Amino acid sequence: MLVEVGAELYKSYCASCHGVVARGGGPAAPALITPPTDLTRIAAQNGGVFPESSVVKAIDGRFDLPAHGSREMPVWGIALAEEIPYFAAGDEVARGRIASLVEYLKSLQEP
Ligand code: HEC
Repeated sequence: MLVEVGAELYKSYCASCHGVVARGGGPAAPALITPPTDLTRIAAQNGGVFPESSVVKAIDGRFDLPAHGSREMPVWGIALAEEIPYFAAGDEVARGRIASLVEYLKSLQEP
C-alpha cells in the first residue's frame, strides 16, 4: 500500500529532522536554523483540510520561489531521484515517492 511505502521512506529520509513521530525535533533538528515543521498538524493549521498539492510542492522543492527565503530542507524532487541514472525515469520515481510520502503524512494528521 502507498501509505506503507511512504512510512518506510519517511523513516529513511525524513525522521532525522522531523522526528520518528513527525512532530519535529528529530536528532538533526538542533543543527538547523528553522525548526522542522510538526507534520501532524498540517491540516489543523489549514482549517482542517490537508492541502495536498501544496504539501507535494513543499516536499519536491524544485518550485520554491526565492521569496520563501533559504530552504534548509533538501530538495526532495532531486534527492529522491538521484540514484536513477536516466533523468526522465528519475523524475517519475521521485514523483511516486513523494506521492507515497504525502499519503503517509495525510494518515498522520491530528485535529
Ligand atoms: C535536513 C532536515 C530535514 C529533512 C531531512 C526533511 N525536512 Fe522537511 N522541513 C525541514 C525544515 C527546516 C522545514 C521548515 C521549512 C524550511 O525551512 O524549509 C521543513 C518543512 C517541511 C514541510 C512543511 C512545508 C510547509 O511549509 O508547509 C513538509 C511537508 C516537510 N518538511 C516534509 C518532509 C518530508 C516528507 C521529508 C522526507 C522526504 C522531509 N521533510 C525531510 C527540514 C527537513
